[in-house]
Amino acid sequence: MKFIVTKSYEEMSRKGADLIGAQVLVKPNCLLGLATGSTPIGLYAELVRRNQEGSLDFSKVRSVNLDEYCGLSPESDQSYHYFMNYHLFSKVNIPFENTRVPNGLAEDLAQEGLAYDAYIAQQGGIDLQLLGIGHNGHIGFNEPDDVFTAATHCVDLTESTITANARLFASIDEVPTKAITMGMRSIMAAKKILLVANGLGKQEIVKQAFFGPVTPKCPASLLQLHPDVTVITDFDVE
Ligand code: F6R
Repeated sequence: MKFIVTKSYEEMSRKGADLIGAQVLVKPNCLLGLATGSTPIGLYAELVRRNQEGSLDFSKVRSVNLDEYCGLSPESDQSYHYFMNYHLFSKVNIPFENTRVPNGLAEDLAQEGLAYDAYIAQQGGIDLQLLGIGHNGHIGFNEPDDVFTAATHCVDLTESTITANARLFASIDEVPTKAITMGMRSIMAAKKILLVANGLGKQEIVKQAFFGPVTPKCPASLLQLHPDVTVITDFDVE
Protein backbone atom coordinates (compact mmCIF):
# COMPACT_ATOMS: atom_id res chain seq x y z
CA MET A 1 0.00 0.00 0.00
CA LYS A 2 1.38 3.35 -0.96
CA PHE A 3 -0.07 6.59 0.39
CA ILE A 4 0.53 9.90 -1.35
CA VAL A 5 -0.64 12.85 0.74
CA THR A 6 -1.04 16.00 -1.30
CA LYS A 7 -1.79 19.58 -0.29
CA SER A 8 -4.84 20.18 -2.45
CA TYR A 9 -7.52 18.67 -4.67
CA GLU A 10 -5.63 19.97 -7.71
CA GLU A 11 -2.39 18.28 -6.66
CA MET A 12 -4.27 15.04 -5.90
CA SER A 13 -5.82 15.21 -9.37
CA ARG A 14 -2.47 15.86 -11.09
CA LYS A 15 -0.74 13.02 -9.25
CA GLY A 16 -3.63 10.68 -10.10
CA ALA A 17 -3.37 11.72 -13.74
CA ASP A 18 0.40 11.07 -13.59
CA LEU A 19 -0.24 7.44 -12.63
CA ILE A 20 -2.88 6.91 -15.29
CA GLY A 21 -0.66 8.65 -17.85
CA ALA A 22 2.23 6.35 -16.91
CA GLN A 23 0.00 3.32 -17.32
CA VAL A 24 -1.07 4.45 -20.80
CA LEU A 25 2.54 5.16 -21.73
CA VAL A 26 3.83 1.71 -20.75
CA LYS A 27 0.81 -0.10 -22.23
CA PRO A 28 -0.95 2.04 -24.84
CA ASN A 29 -3.79 -0.48 -25.21
CA CYS A 30 -4.30 -0.92 -21.46
CA LEU A 31 -7.70 -1.65 -19.96
CA LEU A 32 -8.53 1.14 -17.51
CA GLY A 33 -11.20 0.63 -14.86
CA LEU A 34 -12.90 3.98 -14.34
CA ALA A 35 -15.00 5.59 -11.62
CA THR A 36 -17.51 8.43 -11.53
CA GLY A 37 -18.44 10.78 -8.68
CA SER A 38 -17.13 14.19 -7.70
CA THR A 39 -13.65 13.05 -6.68
CA PRO A 40 -12.18 12.11 -10.09
CA ILE A 41 -13.57 15.11 -12.00
CA GLY A 42 -10.32 17.08 -11.60
CA LEU A 43 -8.26 14.04 -12.55
CA TYR A 44 -10.32 13.57 -15.72
CA ALA A 45 -9.93 17.29 -16.54
CA GLU A 46 -6.18 16.84 -16.21
CA LEU A 47 -6.21 13.80 -18.53
CA VAL A 48 -8.25 15.82 -21.04
CA ARG A 49 -5.76 18.69 -20.84
CA ARG A 50 -2.81 16.37 -21.43
CA ASN A 51 -4.58 14.64 -24.32
CA GLN A 52 -5.50 17.92 -25.97
CA GLU A 53 -1.97 19.31 -25.66
CA GLY A 54 -0.71 16.09 -27.29
CA SER A 55 1.21 14.48 -24.44
CA LEU A 56 -1.22 11.64 -23.72
CA ASP A 57 -2.72 9.38 -26.37
CA PHE A 58 -5.92 7.41 -25.72
CA SER A 59 -6.27 6.03 -29.24
CA LYS A 60 -5.63 2.44 -28.16
CA VAL A 61 -6.90 2.63 -24.58
CA ARG A 62 -9.87 0.50 -23.54
CA SER A 63 -12.04 1.19 -20.51
CA VAL A 64 -14.66 -0.40 -18.29
CA ASN A 65 -16.62 1.59 -15.74
CA LEU A 66 -17.45 0.44 -12.26
CA ASP A 67 -21.14 1.07 -12.08
CA GLU A 68 -24.37 2.56 -13.35
CA TYR A 69 -27.76 3.40 -11.87
CA CYS A 70 -30.56 1.03 -12.78
CA GLY A 71 -33.31 2.61 -14.83
CA LEU A 72 -31.35 5.55 -16.25
CA SER A 73 -30.59 5.68 -19.96
CA PRO A 74 -27.12 6.69 -21.18
CA GLU A 75 -28.66 9.98 -22.39
CA SER A 76 -29.99 10.89 -18.95
CA ASP A 77 -27.70 13.58 -17.58
CA GLN A 78 -27.60 11.87 -14.17
CA SER A 79 -26.44 8.56 -15.59
CA TYR A 80 -22.84 7.48 -15.23
CA HIS A 81 -22.70 6.91 -19.01
CA TYR A 82 -23.47 10.60 -19.46
CA PHE A 83 -20.94 11.56 -16.78
CA MET A 84 -18.17 9.64 -18.55
CA ASN A 85 -19.05 11.04 -21.97
CA TYR A 86 -19.16 14.55 -20.54
CA HIS A 87 -15.98 14.46 -18.44
CA LEU A 88 -13.74 12.22 -20.51
CA PHE A 89 -14.82 10.17 -23.51
CA SER A 90 -16.10 13.03 -25.68
CA LYS A 91 -13.01 15.13 -24.94
CA VAL A 92 -10.15 12.69 -25.58
CA ASN A 93 -9.30 10.48 -28.55
CA ILE A 94 -10.48 7.22 -26.99
CA PRO A 95 -12.51 5.27 -29.60
CA PHE A 96 -16.07 5.21 -28.29
CA GLU A 97 -16.34 1.48 -29.05
CA ASN A 98 -13.41 0.85 -26.68
CA THR A 99 -15.42 2.15 -23.71
CA ARG A 100 -17.94 0.21 -21.69
CA VAL A 101 -20.28 1.13 -18.82
CA PRO A 102 -22.67 -1.40 -17.25
CA ASN A 103 -26.12 -1.22 -18.82
CA GLY A 104 -28.54 -0.12 -16.11
CA LEU A 105 -31.44 -0.56 -18.51
CA ALA A 106 -30.76 -4.26 -19.15
CA GLU A 107 -33.92 -6.30 -18.75
CA ASP A 108 -31.96 -9.12 -17.18
CA LEU A 109 -29.48 -7.48 -14.83
CA ALA A 110 -28.06 -10.80 -13.67
CA GLN A 111 -27.24 -11.65 -17.29
CA GLU A 112 -25.77 -8.17 -17.81
CA GLY A 113 -23.52 -8.80 -14.78
CA LEU A 114 -22.31 -12.11 -16.17
CA ALA A 115 -21.69 -10.57 -19.60
CA TYR A 116 -19.81 -7.66 -18.03
CA ASP A 117 -17.47 -9.94 -16.08
CA ALA A 118 -16.96 -12.10 -19.19
CA TYR A 119 -16.08 -8.99 -21.20
CA ILE A 120 -13.49 -7.88 -18.62
CA ALA A 121 -11.94 -11.37 -18.60
CA GLN A 122 -11.97 -11.58 -22.40
CA GLN A 123 -10.21 -8.18 -22.55
CA GLY A 124 -7.42 -9.65 -20.39
CA GLY A 125 -8.42 -8.07 -17.07
CA ILE A 126 -8.06 -4.54 -15.78
CA ASP A 127 -4.57 -3.04 -15.82
CA LEU A 128 -5.32 -0.07 -13.58
CA GLN A 129 -8.54 0.45 -11.64
CA LEU A 130 -9.40 3.96 -10.50
CA LEU A 131 -11.59 4.14 -7.39
CA GLY A 132 -13.25 6.73 -5.20
CA ILE A 133 -14.63 5.77 -1.79
CA GLY A 134 -18.07 6.35 -0.31
CA HIS A 135 -18.52 7.76 3.20
CA ASN A 136 -19.70 4.27 4.21
CA GLY A 137 -16.65 2.56 2.69
CA HIS A 138 -18.28 1.50 -0.56
CA ILE A 139 -16.19 1.09 -3.70
CA GLY A 140 -18.07 1.05 -6.95
CA PHE A 141 -21.51 0.48 -5.48
CA ASN A 142 -20.39 -2.43 -3.32
CA GLU A 143 -22.24 -1.34 -0.23
CA PRO A 144 -21.53 -2.47 3.37
CA ASP A 145 -22.97 -5.95 3.80
CA ASP A 146 -22.46 -9.23 5.66
CA VAL A 147 -20.46 -10.70 2.79
CA PHE A 148 -18.29 -9.45 -0.07
CA THR A 149 -20.00 -10.00 -3.43
CA ALA A 150 -17.62 -11.25 -6.10
CA ALA A 151 -19.45 -10.77 -9.38
CA THR A 152 -20.94 -7.77 -11.15
CA HIS A 153 -24.38 -7.53 -9.60
CA CYS A 154 -27.44 -5.43 -8.90
CA VAL A 155 -27.49 -3.67 -5.50
CA ASP A 156 -29.98 -1.81 -3.35
CA LEU A 157 -28.33 1.49 -2.54
CA THR A 158 -28.13 2.35 1.15
CA GLU A 159 -29.85 5.40 2.64
CA SER A 160 -26.49 7.09 3.16
CA THR A 161 -25.50 6.61 -0.49
CA ILE A 162 -28.87 7.86 -1.73
CA THR A 163 -28.57 10.90 0.56
CA ALA A 164 -24.97 11.57 -0.53
CA ASN A 165 -25.91 11.38 -4.22
CA ALA A 166 -29.11 13.42 -3.90
CA ARG A 167 -27.05 16.57 -4.48
CA LEU A 168 -26.85 15.59 -8.15
CA PHE A 169 -30.62 15.20 -8.58
CA ALA A 170 -33.54 17.67 -8.43
CA SER A 171 -34.84 15.91 -5.33
CA ILE A 172 -33.94 12.87 -3.22
CA ASP A 173 -37.01 11.07 -4.61
CA GLU A 174 -35.40 11.05 -8.04
CA VAL A 175 -32.26 9.22 -6.92
CA PRO A 176 -32.45 5.64 -8.21
CA THR A 177 -32.55 3.10 -5.41
CA LYS A 178 -30.76 0.37 -7.36
CA ALA A 179 -27.52 0.19 -9.29
CA ILE A 180 -25.42 -2.36 -11.11
CA THR A 181 -21.83 -2.54 -9.95
CA MET A 182 -18.67 -4.40 -10.74
CA GLY A 183 -18.12 -6.86 -7.91
CA MET A 184 -15.12 -7.26 -5.65
CA ARG A 185 -13.53 -9.99 -7.76
CA SER A 186 -12.97 -7.86 -10.89
CA ILE A 187 -11.82 -4.94 -8.73
CA MET A 188 -9.39 -7.08 -6.74
CA ALA A 189 -8.16 -8.80 -9.92
CA ALA A 190 -7.01 -5.46 -11.37
CA LYS A 191 -3.23 -5.41 -11.65
CA LYS A 192 -2.99 -1.99 -10.04
CA ILE A 193 -5.44 0.06 -8.03
CA LEU A 194 -5.50 3.82 -7.59
CA LEU A 195 -7.90 5.21 -4.98
CA VAL A 196 -8.42 8.95 -4.72
CA ALA A 197 -10.13 10.68 -1.79
CA ASN A 198 -10.38 14.36 -0.97
CA GLY A 199 -11.91 16.46 1.77
CA LEU A 200 -11.72 15.88 5.51
CA GLY A 201 -15.14 14.23 5.39
CA LYS A 202 -13.42 11.17 3.86
CA GLN A 203 -10.53 11.04 6.36
CA GLU A 204 -12.15 8.69 8.90
CA ILE A 205 -13.41 6.19 6.35
CA VAL A 206 -10.04 6.07 4.58
CA LYS A 207 -8.33 5.34 7.92
CA GLN A 208 -10.93 2.70 8.73
CA ALA A 209 -10.60 1.09 5.28
CA PHE A 210 -6.82 0.85 5.27
CA PHE A 211 -5.95 0.53 8.96
CA GLY A 212 -9.07 -1.10 10.40
CA PRO A 213 -10.28 -4.70 10.14
CA VAL A 214 -10.89 -6.30 6.74
CA THR A 215 -14.66 -6.66 6.74
CA PRO A 216 -17.55 -6.50 4.26
CA LYS A 217 -19.02 -3.86 6.59
CA CYS A 218 -16.39 -1.62 5.00
CA PRO A 219 -15.97 -3.00 1.45
CA ALA A 220 -12.88 -0.87 0.69
CA SER A 221 -11.04 -2.67 3.52
CA LEU A 222 -10.58 -5.66 1.19
CA LEU A 223 -8.05 -3.53 -0.70
CA GLN A 224 -5.64 -4.22 2.19
CA LEU A 225 -5.17 -7.66 0.57
CA HIS A 226 -4.32 -6.24 -2.86
CA PRO A 227 -0.59 -6.21 -3.73
CA ASP A 228 -0.48 -2.90 -5.64
CA VAL A 229 -2.67 -0.12 -4.25
CA THR A 230 -1.87 3.59 -4.33
CA VAL A 231 -4.06 5.92 -2.28
CA ILE A 232 -3.88 9.64 -3.02
CA THR A 233 -5.53 12.03 -0.56
CA ASP A 234 -5.46 15.71 0.25
CA PHE A 235 -5.48 14.95 4.00
CA ASP A 236 -3.24 13.13 6.46
CA VAL A 237 -3.91 9.44 6.94
CA GLU A 238 -1.72 8.88 10.02
C1 F6R B 1 -18.81 5.82 -8.65
C2 F6R B 1 -18.22 5.03 -7.59
C3 F6R B 1 -18.44 5.41 -6.17
C4 F6R B 1 -17.80 6.74 -5.82
C5 F6R B 1 -18.04 7.10 -4.36
C6 F6R B 1 -17.46 8.43 -4.00
O1 F6R B 1 -18.50 5.26 -9.91
O2 F6R B 1 -17.57 4.08 -7.88
O3 F6R B 1 -17.91 4.39 -5.35
O4 F6R B 1 -16.42 6.67 -6.06
O5 F6R B 1 -19.43 7.12 -4.12
O6 F6R B 1 -18.16 9.43 -4.68
P1 F6R B 1 -17.68 10.94 -4.65
O7 F6R B 1 -16.40 11.00 -5.41
O8 F6R B 1 -18.79 11.70 -5.35
O9 F6R B 1 -17.51 11.31 -3.22
